[in-house]
Amino acid sequence: MQSMSFTEPIAQVIEKRMQTDRRMFLRTLTGATAAYTLPSLIDDWPSIIHRANASQPVEGDNPRNGKTIPGRDQPSSMDDKNDESFWFNVQQAFSIDRSYINLNNGGVCPSPRVVMDAQRRQLEFTNNAPARHLWQVQDPQLELVRAKLARLYGCDPEEMAITRNASEALQISLNGIDLKPGDEILTSTHDYPRMIATIRQREKREGVVMKQVPLPPPDASQDEVVGAFERGITSKTRILLVSHVVFLTGRILPVQDICAMARKRGLIIIVDGAHAFGQIAYDGREIDCDMYGVSCHKWLTAPIGTGFLHVRRGMIKDLWPLTAPEDPKSENIRKFEEIGTHPDAGRLAIGEAIAFHLGIGPKRKEHRLRTLRNYWATRLMKHQKVKLFTNLAPDRSCAIGTIGIDGIEPLALTSHLWDKHKIIVTPIDHEDIHGVRVTANVYTTFDELDLFCEAMENVAREGLPKNGK
Ligand SMILES: Cc1ncc(COP(=O)(O)O)c(C=O)c1O
Repeated sequence: MQSMSFTEPIAQVIEKRMQTDRRMFLRTLTGATAAYTLPSLIDDWPSIIHRANASQPVEGDNPRNGKTIPGRDQPSSMDDKNDESFWFNVQQAFSIDRSYINLNNGGVCPSPRVVMDAQRRQLEFTNNAPARHLWQVQDPQLELVRAKLARLYGCDPEEMAITRNASEALQISLNGIDLKPGDEILTSTHDYPRMIATIRQREKREGVVMKQVPLPPPDASQDEVVGAFERGITSKTRILLVSHVVFLTGRILPVQDICAMARKRGLIIIVDGAHAFGQIAYDGREIDCDMYGVSCHKWLTAPIGTGFLHVRRGMIKDLWPLTAPEDPKSENIRKFEEIGTHPDAGRLAIGEAIAFHLGIGPKRKEHRLRTLRNYWATRLMKHQKVKLFTNLAPDRSCAIGTIGIDGIEPLALTSHLWDKHKIIVTPIDHEDIHGVRVTANVYTTFDELDLFCEAMENVAREGLPKNGK
């Protein structure tokens, strides 16, 4: 959105509406991180991976099973999980190139054709008369996208800012809170490198201190995970940053319990939901955090360059925006969107991505993503040399799996899969995890996963070809 004080008539209408709203609502990949502070737990990691998977069920629904959110969950008649003709239609909805196999949908996902079409249409409309169409027609239309995103996530539209990605959303959150030298920001060693870099910049610039707790091994109870964060809290801790789904392994963290614990300890809570939104079905209202950041171009399959930031109403006023609006202390969530002139086409096409997502049904999609992941993971896990760094239990992970082969470097394996088999995966070379991250999406076929499994089995049996072929 453009500046709130624009002289364009429609901008004045919006500004008036925002004032009314204010009155009405015046009452919310690779990369190693820093050294571990509690290294003893880490020794247990590799040895427990297989054990964790052996002892857990691999099929099942998400833990929120049975909680229907109006407008988000589909009626049960839509929840036929084994209907391959349904999934054939979903596969065909993407105009992707099948002369390679894209198993890196975790970084960024292709959009279905309807989303691409909507973005193209919007861009052409913008281009006819940019100043008029962008600011007088398309900016106001974003209000419906805001409402739809808020409904899907589970918050009030007045707590929903549309951003360019999760990085922007989380940097607003991490940089926007006043801290004193010595104040601590607590996070984990499995949080995303850009967010870690954001905190490091504050360390260098302002003397705040980052503390990172290691996560307990994948078969640890969810209570142990909560305990690990709780033990990291000191009298100086002000902010907690926690990932909902860990980017390295796809591990689902018990964010609800972590937030409840952190709330009791009086912390400001930021949740990195980059990988959670659109992958697993959940209700944002059940997560008692202050800020929640998302990339819509990941699992929601919205256009590249889209994301959102949910800010709890009571936090909006005191959270400084990254780019300065006219009134940085405004209680209007739109202050976080004042980034200067920018395209609206992708943002508006989020609406189409939401329709596609709801058409499949969030729970059905979650189940399908888990089924695809389990298909390759359970097959490859049988091999002696294969290590799975992801716990396959349904409440611990969904679409994402990270897998290594003894003695094979992640980068070399990634290059081999591309060079020889035209398969795209993500290398993960982290202190605890050495493998490739594999992320199929709803358009992936079982045939493609078979080809991936065959390629991996060859490497597990024979190693990488010596001549690089
Ligand atoms: C956990 C996590 N947080 C944040 C991000 C940043 O997302 P983006 O690059 O879309 O801003 C990523 C990207 O992969 C991620 O995995």
